[in-house]
Amino acid sequence: MSPAIRMMSTTTLFIQIITFFLFTATVLSSSPPSGFSIDLFQRRSNSSSSRVSNTQLGSSPYADTEFENFVYLMNLQIGTPPIEIEAILDTGSEITWTNCFPCNDCIIPFSPLSSSTYKEKICDDNPCPYEINYEDKTYSRGTYATETIRLQSTSGKPYTMPETTIGCSHNSSADFKKPSPSGVVGLNWGPLSLLSQMGEDMLGLMSYCFSGKGTSKLNFGSNAIVSGDGTVSANLFRKLEHPNNYYLNLDAVSVGKTRIETLGTPLHASDGNIIIDSGTTLTYLPESYCKKVRTAVEKVVKAERVASPGYQLCYRTKNMDLFPVIKMHFQGGADLFLDKFNTYMTNGEVTCLMIVGDRLTPIFGNRAQNNFLVGYDPSSQLVSFKPTNCSALWS
Ligand SMILES: *[C@@H]1O[C@H](CO)[C@@H](O)[C@H](O)[C@H]1NC(C)=O
Ligand SMILES: *[C@@H]1O[C@H](CO)[C@@H](O)[C@H](O)[C@H]1NC(C)=O
Ligand SMILES: *[C@@H]1O[C@H](CO)[C@@H](O)[C@H](O)[C@H]1NC(C)=O
Repeated sequence: MSPAIRMMSTTTLFIQIITFFLFTATVLSSSPPSGFSIDLFQRRSNSSSSRVSNTQLGSSPYADTEFENFVYLMNLQIGTPPIEIEAILDTGSEITWTNCFPCNDCIIPFSPLSSSTYKEKICDDNPCPYEINYEDKTYSRGTYATETIRLQSTSGKPYTMPETTIGCSHNSSADFKKPSPSGVVGLNWGPLSLLSQMGEDMLGLMSYCFSGKGTSKLNFGSNAIVSGDGTVSANLFRKLEHPNNYYLNLDAVSVGKTRIETLGTPLHASDGNIIIDSGTTLTYLPESYCKKVRTAVEKVVKAERVASPGYQLCYRTKNMDLFPVIKMHFQGGADLFLDKFNTYMTNGEVTCLMIVGDRLTPIFGNRAQNNFLVGYDPSSQLVSFKPTNCSALWS
């Protein structure tokens, strides 16, 4: 099985040093989004309606995304003249960074010297350092800068974000020492995330549709509203302990006909207990609760157990029919009926459960989100899920 277990998890970024940046003014893009029909707008919370005047008819930015080795990469352009990079799409972290010349053994780094719009940030007469440690022990170290970032947009013209704060990485872990990914795009709630730096016009709206193959799109602004037949929504929470992460509240998991409540377990909460994250592959639950889920799966599956590193429940079979269907029930009314592909992975003759127990922060990972159009709507405090054949959506 793949060792890429928690590639880019995210939740606990221990970012040192940076606090004085926290409220860096956001620079508005040259191409404002929009397209809220009145109708859509009225379903939104009234706290956001004062912003309607900021939006103009125009276009919505988007980026092409691609599945690669258990993570999703997105394309964006950086610098002037623009260089295209592929970086991990991460709703679980804040800082957008890319490998920058000079750096240890990385291939095709972005070169600040060749960009006319690159500006180093200075703190106390020195370049401002940053250091990010992801939960899977990967890291990036470097200095802050401002630079022009370009995405595509529905208008056909690039969506330009001048003076965007980014990290220019001079030392990153081995996973990044390849042409791709050459960095991470941070999309959480933090003030320096790419989404936050797009400004209020986007209303924090973002959507994606992941599948195990092919390309797809990450949409922002009005194009990221998820609605229509089959759409269900989960309440979105902000929590003090990780205020920049998107929390959902998991009420229960069903394995076949057995519903396992979080009530009465350490996972139980009513204000958010699991982070929804595009940058983590598997779904992680506290071990004591996850054990109940595994036990329920074990009761159904009649096949030989085998061990596989990184997973806790594996069988020597590739027959998915032996495995029970898993549903996740989120507060707010999202009862997600997960496909077997979302919860089990077959590699050769072995099939494993892709929900794993540990002691770290619970994470709803990207594999479980496959084949849903997932829309984040912070102003309505909802994440919406629409069952969708994601590989067919934009092909
Ligand atoms: C927003 O809506 C809520 C519930 O409908 C209402 O109680 C509140 O007064 C409204 N706030 C404003 C600013 O209109
Ligand atoms: C890169 O960072 C790692 C982790 O902090 C450190 O062990 C290593 O010595 C650094 N490499 C260089 C060349 O600074
Ligand atoms: C999803 O779409 C792809 C591409 O159009 C197609 O090959 C596949 O059969 C579809 N899957 C389902 C479950 O409909």
